[in-house]
Amino acid sequence: MKPHLIILGAPGSGKGTQAARLVEKGFTHISTGDLLRREIAKGSELGQKVSGIMTRGDLVDDNTVMALLKANCDVDKVSYIFDGFPRNIAQAEMLQAELLSESKTLAVYFKIDLGILINRVVNRRTCGNCGEIYNLTTKPPRVAEVCDKCGAHGALKQRKDDTEEVISNRLKIFADSVDPMLAFYKSKSALVEIDASMPENVVFSALEKVIC
Ligand code: AP5
Ligand code: MG
Repeated sequence: MKPHLIILGAPGSGKGTQAARLVEKGFTHISTGDLLRREIAKGSELGQKVSGIMTRGDLVDDNTVMALLKANCDVDKVSYIFDGFPRNIAQAEMLQAELLSESKTLAVYFKIDLGILINRVVNRRTCGNCGEIYNLTTKPPRVAEVCDKCGAHGALKQRKDDTEEVISNRLKIFADSVDPMLAFYKSKSALVEIDASMPENVVFSALEKVIC
């Protein structure tokens, strides 16, 4: 079995874009942001609890997200790409102790100047039908408002937390919490860095080298 990959990266650094491509390499993509948005869409009790928190760009509490993650993965069966978990050192320690323990794991840090991310994020659009990720300036759909992947019409949506004000809060939270996580994986000799400012295909090639 391949190692589990943990993608550590700021909002907009390309975690979801690259994780979707890594599925072709036999990984299973698990995004805590997607799991939480699904709960909001369902209108579940959990969704109602986290909706306001996510719209503000704050973090949902660690135990809630950890429980959701555990309920949705089986680390002995498939190799996962963890996208958006962990977000802080407490989550990194929980992930290790409660889920991964002895499993082979590699953390990949998507290093990027945070200053360029506001533009990426405010121009992001996501297909509400299949989840394909677009960017109005760098990766628009071939036909406006139609998803290239699934053909859905009028399905491209902007996330509620993708406004300039909210992304600034999300970036600040990331900047305040990333260093202890990097130190955690570095101390286990399980950390590699990739330059996430490069074009999508270049980042993907770098990832392919890491996983081979
Ligand atoms: P989550 O959904 O995880 O959002 P995020 O971490 O803020 O990351 P994003 O999804 O915004 O960015 P991405 O890195 O996936 O970039 P993407 O590939 O889309 O979390 C949302 C919220 O949920 C949190 O704020 C929190 O409230 C809650 N939450 C989730 N997990 C939690 C946890 N563990 N604990 C507590 N709370 C949690 O790309 C972005 C754009 O850039 C796209 O338009 C794309 O086309 C473009 N792009 C991608 N790559 C490139 C490239 N190489 N060059 C140019 N453009 C590119
Ligand atoms: Mg994402």
